[in-house]
Amino acid sequence: MSGFLGRATPALQALKAYDPGHDLPALRKRRSAGDLVELGSNENAWGPSPKALAALREAAVEEVFRYPDPQTASLRSSLAERHGVTADEIAIGNGSHELLMQFAQIFCGPGDELVHSRFGFAVYPISARAVGATPVAAPAFQADAEMPLGHDLGALFDAITPRCRLLCMANPNNPTGTWFTLAQLSAFMERVPRDLPVVIDEAYIEYADAPGLGSAVSLRNRFPNLVVTRTFSKAFGLAGLRIGYAIAHVEIIELLNRLRESFCVNGLALLAAQTALRDGAHLARVVAATRRERERVALQLSGRGYKVMPSQGNFLLIDFECEAAPIEAQLLARGVVVRPMMAYGLPNCLRVTVATAPENDRFLQALRA
Ligand SMILES: Cc1ncc(COP(=O)(O)O)c(C=O)c1O
Repeated sequence: MSGFLGRATPALQALKAYDPGHDLPALRKRRSAGDLVELGSNENAWGPSPKALAALREAAVEEVFRYPDPQTASLRSSLAERHGVTADEIAIGNGSHELLMQFAQIFCGPGDELVHSRFGFAVYPISARAVGATPVAAPAFQADAEMPLGHDLGALFDAITPRCRLLCMANPNNPTGTWFTLAQLSAFMERVPRDLPVVIDEAYIEYADAPGLGSAVSLRNRFPNLVVTRTFSKAFGLAGLRIGYAIAHVEIIELLNRLRESFCVNGLALLAAQTALRDGAHLARVVAATRRERERVALQLSGRGYKVMPSQGNFLLIDFECEAAPIEAQLLARGVVVRPMMAYGLPNCLRVTVATAPENDRFLQALRA
């Protein structure tokens, strides 16, 4: 008995780590190349901009043996231009997951509350628990509502107590694929205390095309307490390099800069992100293909009688209306990796990434089998 566990903070002693899904490197080793269809992590099956890959191949050796730019100045300046904000309203992180954890570190401690929606992204309650704060899950809409399992902004507002220090929600949401409109967000923000930071996690926003759904960045002038997170892991296809960013009030960015590790994003990630950002044509192709496939797969599934949630992300949540674990096991036996939803309290559901047509067909065939 070493007793190290007992020496950890009470918060960490009680913390259950984020579940990243199957052990993919082990699965890849077990199956022949190209045989595994990976639809469990909402990555971009088309990959990043070829220009970003070329930039990585041609990267100067200094990118490897020198420390990266601790100010991430060049990328922040490109992002500032893209979003119509100033560079000091932007922070770059080692994936947006890191930034989400840091917001809880900045604003929450023991006795404080972080409000999120039931069926919201699993990282929000973890970020609260990690710092000894209490995550408060507001009830989501019912499965048969117009926005099944989606964020109920009225319930989220009702969950805000004087102890609430941070509110986090994704738009579109993972794992449900649900969304809310800018008008709904604006009405919600009118009611929320002006000094409560509200994080809108827009990891999947590039894939969205629903009427009225837009980026919360456009509301920041009216609501300086809005914090927006974005990632290069999804539509930009750079999940392996770990890079994301936050847009927030300069005071919040300044707090992040106090907390973060100085060189938290590596030089190759910065280079690839910068190059990918300039390749709008590739992004547009990926987004168009994903939307096409999202619609096709959803139609095929509902045509077979499955209950498919409407989705604005690059994934679909399927409610099998019976225990999904045996279905998941059978898919895996056929080389198709999807994400079980037990940890989200949705044991009848599986979440499936929308990938290329041949990959989606492999999933559809395996499901039929
Ligand atoms: C809603 C949401 N937010 C944030 C992330 C984290 O993304 P990353 O850390 O790769 O930027 C994910 C990843 O799946 C996600 O689904």
